[in-house]
Amino acid sequence: MKGLKVLQYYAKRSIFQSRHLSLSLSAKSNQNVRIGFAGLVGNTPLVRLNSMSEETGCEILAKVESANGGGSVKDRAALFLIRDAENKGLLRPGGTVVEGTAGNTGIGLAHVCNALGYKCVIFMPNTQSKAARYADSIDNAVWTNQFDNTANKQAHIETTGPEIWSQTGGKVDAVVFGTGTGGTLAGVATYLKEMNHKIHTELADPQGSVLYNYIKHGKLERSEGSSIAEGIGQGRVTANLKDAPIDDAHVVMDTDAVRMTFRLLHEEGFFVGASTGLNVAGAVKHNIKLAITQYTDMSIAAYNTR
Ligand SMILES: Cc1ncc(COP(=O)(O)O)c(C=O)c1O
Repeated sequence: MKGLKVLQYYAKRSIFQSRHLSLSLSAKSNQNVRIGFAGLVGNTPLVRLNSMSEETGCEILAKVESANGGGSVKDRAALFLIRDAENKGLLRPGGTVVEGTAGNTGIGLAHVCNALGYKCVIFMPNTQSKAARYADSIDNAVWTNQFDNTANKQAHIETTGPEIWSQTGGKVDAVVFGTGTGGTLAGVATYLKEMNHKIHTELADPQGSVLYNYIKHGKLERSEGSSIAEGIGQGRVTANLKDAPIDDAHVVMDTDAVRMTFRLLHEEGFFVGASTGLNVAGAVKHNIKLAITQYTDMSIAAYNTR
């Protein structure tokens, strides 16, 4: 009952529909026909990782986020950040979207902007203050501010979390992800905890990030070393991550993450990047019956279910 109320609450508050570009009911995406690029964001499959599941005796599932139209989990945030700006009246037709990003958010924004008729300006790598100043200096432009704009987390409260819940029939026991802006982990954790507070939510953090120590000990201290994984690890607590219901954290060594990318290629047939290797290594270590992680770019998320 509580879960139903949560669903109704998020449905009412959805920012997914644009004021300018809302779809007619008859032209909404369904499983067979997706409408335009926006229709290709979300509804990604879950895949069982056979060798890791058999080895651990747990069901380890990965959410194949590479199946999003732009090829990564960040397409979800990109679409919601733009819809949020439209709905707040910050972006009018023909306007410009500005963001600091060195990676997948920029790719996602570029795709969504082309699909919806906006210009897109990316400051690399991650130069948020320059991006903000540039957006201020021109008319009809918005700095989407992926780290601290919680429309990012909202994307996962409204899409990724509900997908995981319904794809597992509510049987998910744990989710294990790395985090960058915090949007995916915080959004999925928020939604799933509302549906069942017993679902275990865990951060798999790369070396050199402060988040492991923050979650375990409440201190913003970097863990030892540094990481080659792109897009994950963080030096502060973003607005997206703040107050997220995260139960536990552990550090995944780069050597384990990279070894896992080779295992995923040789044993499962998936060609994935380091952040996906880290997610899956985190889920395997976790040893919960039904765990879910994600392929973030060539994308999985690990979800663990009993
Ligand atoms: C490949 C990859 N994985 C994971 C993440 C982290 O996702 P989030 O920013 O939602 O924490 C990113 C973010 O850029 C990414 O590019």
